[in-house]
Amino acid sequence: MIYLDHNATTAIDPAVLEAMLPYLTEYYGNPSSIHSPGRVARTAIDNAREQVAQLVGAHPSQLIFTSGGTEANNLALNSLATHAVGTMCVSTIEHPSVLEPARQWQKKGWQLELVPVDAGGTVQEAVAMKMLQKRPTLISVMMANNETGVIQPIASLAQFAREHGVIMHTDAVQAVGKIAVDFNTTGAHLMSLSAHKMYGPKGVGALIVDKVLDIPPLLFGGGHEKGRRSGTENVAAIVGFGMAAVLARQQLDQRQQHLLALRTRLEATLKTLEGVHIISESAQRLPNTVLIAIPGIEGETLIMSLDAKGIALSSGSACASGDTEPSHVLRAMELDEALARSTLRISVGKDSTQAECDAVIAAIKELRQMRQQLASVAW
Ligand SMILES: Cc1ncc(COP(=O)(O)O)c(C=O)c1O
Repeated sequence: MIYLDHNATTAIDPAVLEAMLPYLTEYYGNPSSIHSPGRVARTAIDNAREQVAQLVGAHPSQLIFTSGGTEANNLALNSLATHAVGTMCVSTIEHPSVLEPARQWQKKGWQLELVPVDAGGTVQEAVAMKMLQKRPTLISVMMANNETGVIQPIASLAQFAREHGVIMHTDAVQAVGKIAVDFNTTGAHLMSLSAHKMYGPKGVGALIVDKVLDIPPLLFGGGHEKGRRSGTENVAAIVGFGMAAVLARQQLDQRQQHLLALRTRLEATLKTLEGVHIISESAQRLPNTVLIAIPGIEGETLIMSLDAKGIALSSGSACASGDTEPSHVLRAMELDEALARSTLRISVGKDSTQAECDAVIAAIKELRQMRQQLASVAW
């Protein structure tokens, strides 16, 4: 199988698995226990907390381990709980784990203002800043979009948000491990991470919280994570997250170069195919993500046809009631309907090869040819 869907998830790195295994077998103590097996588990968590914090330039005490990016995003928006009902601003291209909690807050009386993006998928900074001047309680804009790979102007938004006393959250789930991310330089108050997008295990993530913020928990219980997220810690997964962070930090430059070389190779050839569009081509993007549109073939058909050839990719459209519907991200970009229905996302990973990219290009060419032949028969 050729797997070029790394924005969906990544394989656990062998070194990550190796680090995790003892905590699933030998070191199974409860980190809250004061006996030595408990202390071994506690030390492992402390160590992982430092490793993850170091990857993003945060202080270990600023990190709350969660069950993943979804929980981190929900927890970030829970910062609204300490405020009287007001306004929150959320970009139109956020992941559902930001948009849906925002809608829940809206049901509780909060005003939800959607920050638009331009045709290339970048948040319209001027509009966002006008919104910030009205001093909403919170703004949430992701660091990089999962579908287009477009990197958002977080540092300038965060600086403006701070100047206006607005809490700034950024979902950095897709960015961390692919580009350099520094919590302090970024300037956001809250930042979400997820291990399984960076060769760590699924079901673990973190919210980084600026020291000045006090976020009410979503989960109450034994007071784990200094009372900010109760529940016995998933020690092995947290250890895996820590190791994934160490590797990401050590290998970031070489990974970036490798990813960009593959993306450049893919784009250079795909661009030459008649009718094929590279979406957000001129925007600043993650080095691993290419979103293309192949007009005339619906996204889901593309995915299933490629799957039959042993290639795993994603689409920016999904089948809804028998019809292919463009994603909310492509809709927000006001992409032409026909293009938006026929998108294919290729997201390469650190272990992807040129040969795999070439095989994907060959398969896409073949599908287009088949499609053209069918079209000429139909005529
Ligand atoms: C941008 C973004 N945010 C949040 C999430 C959710 O993360 P998790 O799968 O760890 O809950 C994802 C996962 O697809 C994502 O791409």
